[in-house]
Amino acid sequence: MAIERTFSMIKPDATARNLTGKIVAKLEDAGLRVVASKRIHMSLAQAEAFYAVHKGRPFYEELTKQMSAGPVVVQVLEGENAILKNREVMGATNPANAAEGTIRKEFALSIGENSAHGSDAPETAAEEIAFWFSKTEIVG
Ligand code: TYD
Repeated sequence: MAIERTFSMIKPDATARNLTGKIVAKLEDAGLRVVASKRIHMSLAQAEAFYAVHKGRPFYEELTKQMSAGPVVVQVLEGENAILKNREVMGATNPANAAEGTIRKEFALSIGENSAHGSDAPETAAEEIAFWFSKTEIVG
């Protein structure tokens, strides 16, 4: 199996409730390794750029406002099948549909405030990692 890297973000609703450690523990327990991590407070412009793919969708404005409303923890995760594994540990976008034991089932407040972000494909993982991290910040 291929060792991959993926981008993960602990969202403002989760940092506000001091859930960073609990979320990272679930990712680590699944075999993912944190190879880069930083806490940031993104601007609205950064949120709009990061979520540009959703521009024009009905939830875009609320999403970008929420993402810039408080601190987030951005991370690069490494491991076998890291992209899919991260998505599995995160659970479905809407917490009402998320499986037992997933981050979103346990911690999400709503579809918008759903505690975690994870890249959905190799191309987006590479783009999202490059959006937040320089090469020297990633230590495998
Ligand atoms: P999306 O990329 O579809 O989901 P995921 O985060 O699971 O990859 O959507 C990005 C974020 O946009 C999602 O985490 C929460 C928000 N969102 C809404 O608020 N309402 C919606 O109907 C959808 C689809 C997403």
